[in-house]
Amino acid sequence: MVNTHRKLILNIYCSAIILPQICICSQFTSSSNDQYNENPGVFPVATNGEPFPWRELRLPTKVIPLHYDLFVHPNLTSLDFVASEKIEVLVRDTTQFIILHSHGLEIMNATLQSEEDLRYKKSGEKLTVLSYPAHQQIALLVPEKLMADLRYSVAIDFQAKLADGFEGFYKSTYRTLGGETRTIAVTDFEPTHARMAFPCFDEPLFKANFSIKIRRESRHIALSNMPKVKTIEREGGLLEDHFETTVKMSTYLVAYIVCDFASVSGTASSGVKVSIYASPDKWSQTHYALEASLKLLDFYENYFNIHYPLPKLDLVAIPDFESGAMENWGLVTYRETSLLFDPKTSSTSDKLWVTKVIAHELAHQWFGNLVTMEWWNDIWLNEGFATYMELISVNVTYPELQFDNIFLNDCFEVIKSDSLNSSRPVSKQAETPTQIQEMFDDISYKKGACLLNMLKDFLSEEKFKKGIIHYLKKFSYRNAKNDDLWSSLSNSCLESDFTSGGFCYSDSKTTSNTLTFLEENVEVKDIMTTWTRQKGIPLVVVEQEGRLLKLRQERFLNGVFRDDPEWGALQERWYLWHIPVTYSTSSSNAIHRHLLTSKTDTLYLPEKTSWVKLNVDSNGYYIVHYEAHGWDQLIAVLNQNHTLLRPKDRIGLIHDAFQLVSIPSDVLKIVYSVGAQTTEGWNYLLEQYGLSLSGAEKNKILYALSTSKHQEKLIKLIDLGMEGKVIKTQDLASLLYAIARNPKGQQLAWNFVKENWTHLLERFELSSFPMRIIISGTTSHFSSKDELQEVKLFFESLQTQGSYLEIFQIVLETISKNIKWLEKNLPSLRNWLLISI
Ligand code: BES
Ligand code: ZN
Repeated sequence: MVNTHRKLILNIYCSAIILPQICICSQFTSSSNDQYNENPGVFPVATNGEPFPWRELRLPTKVIPLHYDLFVHPNLTSLDFVASEKIEVLVRDTTQFIILHSHGLEIMNATLQSEEDLRYKKSGEKLTVLSYPAHQQIALLVPEKLMADLRYSVAIDFQAKLADGFEGFYKSTYRTLGGETRTIAVTDFEPTHARMAFPCFDEPLFKANFSIKIRRESRHIALSNMPKVKTIEREGGLLEDHFETTVKMSTYLVAYIVCDFASVSGTASSGVKVSIYASPDKWSQTHYALEASLKLLDFYENYFNIHYPLPKLDLVAIPDFESGAMENWGLVTYRETSLLFDPKTSSTSDKLWVTKVIAHELAHQWFGNLVTMEWWNDIWLNEGFATYMELISVNVTYPELQFDNIFLNDCFEVIKSDSLNSSRPVSKQAETPTQIQEMFDDISYKKGACLLNMLKDFLSEEKFKKGIIHYLKKFSYRNAKNDDLWSSLSNSCLESDFTSGGFCYSDSKTTSNTLTFLEENVEVKDIMTTWTRQKGIPLVVVEQEGRLLKLRQERFLNGVFRDDPEWGALQERWYLWHIPVTYSTSSSNAIHRHLLTSKTDTLYLPEKTSWVKLNVDSNGYYIVHYEAHGWDQLIAVLNQNHTLLRPKDRIGLIHDAFQLVSIPSDVLKIVYSVGAQTTEGWNYLLEQYGLSLSGAEKNKILYALSTSKHQEKLIKLIDLGMEGKVIKTQDLASLLYAIARNPKGQQLAWNFVKENWTHLLERFELSSFPMRIIISGTTSHFSSKDELQEVKLFFESLQTQGSYLEIFQIVLETISKNIKWLEKNLPSLRNWLLISI
C-alpha cells in the first residue's frame, strides 16, 4: 500500500514537474548507487545521451537471476528471430536498476512485476531501457526501488537478425546431394555470446534454471539442452516445442538449434538417451560417434560416481562451426570433422580426433557444467580438466589408440610456447571479452592438463581421484576457484585414513589442508600455486657425484642460454617452483621421489649406481639437463640396451635433448599432395573437394591443394575461402595456415592478410581462435630482420587503430627467436649441407 502511494507521487513528479532526464538521474540519488552521488560526471553515457548507471564491465550482484523463461522464433527464410523472456530475479540488496548483458539485440519492450503483481495477475510495469554498447550492457530502470529479499519478474520482448558469423544465434548452411542449399539456425555462446541471443546475466557465476520454447516450421525440428515435453500447434501451420526446465546452469551452456537433421540413438547403462545428429546426407557417418559417446558416458558416470543429471544427451554435427566443439549441457555441438567418421575415407588419426573431442566434451558435462569456474581467469579448471580427462577415459575405453602418446605430445607442444618469455601464468586476470577469449589457449588446455597429470602422479592415482570426486560433489551446481580444488585434493581420504568433521587425517600432525609426503607435511596449494601463478617451465639441472645427487632449478627459456646477456634478467628471483622430482637408477626399478622446493638441493642415493634418469615416464612438467657425465651415461645405456629405459622415458630424453618433436604425415595427404602438383590433378582434387561428404577427406584435399607451386592456384583457393561457398569460411584459417607453410605461398598469405585485414574482421572476431591462427600462421615462420620489422610495423598500425592481441607479442618473440637461431646455426648448417651433398 505504502509502495503504491510512493509510486504515484513519483510518477506525477517525474512527468509533470521535472524534465525526464533529470528524473532518471534522481533515481540514482538513492543509497543503491553511492558512486553516482560522489561523482555523477564520471558515469558512462547511454545511447540516448542519458547517464548509464553502471561503470564496471562485471555486473552488479545486488540482483541475481533464478529462472529464465525463454521463447524464440527464428525465421529461416528472412534470417531473423523474434523472442521474449521472463527472468525471475532475487533482489539481494535494495536497488533502482537492473543491469543485464545484451549485444546487438533490439529491445522492444521491458516490464516488471513484483510477486504481489504476479499473485494478483496485475500486468507488468513498463521499464525504461538504457543501452551501453561499449560494455554490451543494458540498464532497466525501475520507477521505484526493488526491495531486498523479494523476487521480481522481468519480461523483455526483443528481436535480431540471425548472426552472420559463428557466435550467438547464427545461421549455418549446407548443400544436399541434390545440390540444394539449406539453412539451419544454431547457437554458440561460450564465453560471452549468450548476450547476442537473449538479454541475460552473462557471467558464469550467475547460474539459473532455463525453460525454453522454440517456434518452428513443420519441416524442421528443434533441439535444446533438455528433452521436449510437448509440441503445440500455432497459427500459420507453425509448431512450438516446449522443453523441460534445465538444472541450475551458467548462460554460456544454453543451446538451441532449428534444423532438419537426421539422428541415430542409443541408451547408456544409466538409461540416458544418447543421439547423434547430422545433415540427412551425412547420417551414415554418425555411427562411430554413437558407439564412442555411449562408452564414454558409461565410463564417466562410473568413474565420477555421479550420474549425468539430464535425461538425454545430443551430439550434433554443425556445417559451419568456429571451434572444434562446444559442451552445451545436453546438446553438444561439433564441427563436422570432430564428430563424423566415414569408414571409407577417414583414417585412424581421424578416429582418434573424433574420440578425443567426444571424450573432452563429455568430461565437461562434469568439469565445467556441473562445477563451473567462478570467473574466466580460471578457465583452466574447465579446459585443463577436460583435456586431462581425455587421457583417463580414452586409455580405458579405447586402449588401442594409445592415447598416452598423444597426451605426452600435448605436453611437449605447450612446453614450446611456455618456454618463451611471452608466455603467461595459467591463472590470469581477464576482463574484456577479448581478454576472456584469449584465455582459451594451450596454456589453459595443455599446461593445465599436464600439471594435473603431474599432481596425480605425485599424490597417487587413488588419492587424486578421490579428491576430484570430492570437489565435483561438493561444488555441484555451483562455482569453484583454484583454492577449492586444492583443498578438496588435500582433504580426500583413503580407506586407511580416519575422518573427523569432514577432514581426513593420516596421522596426528596433519592439519585440515595438509597431506603427508615422505613423512613431511606438504600443502597441495603451496605446491600448485608455484605452477599456476608464475609462467614458464623449470629446468632441473642434475649432477651425480658418487652417491650424491646435486639438483638445481632455473627457468628454462627456449634459445636463451646461460652465456647470453639477457639470461640473468629473464631468470628473476621469483622463478621458483615446488617440483615433484622422480628418478630411477641403474641399480633398481623403484621410482624415487623428492619434492624440490629450493633453488638447489643435494640428495643421497640409497645405493651406488652408474646412471640416474629424472622425470620417470615424463609425468613431470619440467625439462632435465644432466651435467658432467650424465648424458653420456644415459646414451651408453640406450646404445647398450634401450629397453632398460621405459618408452616414455626414452621419448622424454629425446624431447629434452632436442626440444622438438608434433607430426607423422598422413599417407593419403601425401598422395593427394603429389597429385596436386599438376594442373589436371589440382583441378580434379578441387572438384572432389566440392563433392566430398567427408570432412576428414576434405581437410586432406584442401591441404594438398595448398601445396601447389602455382601462385594463381593459391590465390584461387583464398578467393574461394573468402567467398565461403565451395570452401567454407570456417576453413579459411587452416587454409591460410597451410598456404603460409608452402614456400611459394608464404609471402602471398602474409600480403593477403595485410591487404584484407578489414575483410577478415567482417568474418571473424579479432580475438577469435581462427583470427589468431591466421595472424600467427602467416607470420611466425619469418626469420629475417626485415620481415620482423615489417610485421612489427603492421601490428603497430593495428594497435594505433585500437586492436591489440597478446598473439602479436608471441609472434614478434618467435620471429626474433628464429632470427637468433639462424644467426647461430647457419654456418654449421651450411657446412653440414655441404658435407652431406
Ligand atoms: N569449451 C570449448 C569450446 C570453446 C573454445 C569455447 C574456445 C570458447 C572458446 C570446448 O570444450 C573445446 O575445448 N573445444 C576444443 C576441442 C577439444 C577437443 C580440445 C576446440 O574447439 O578446439
Ligand atoms: Zn573444452
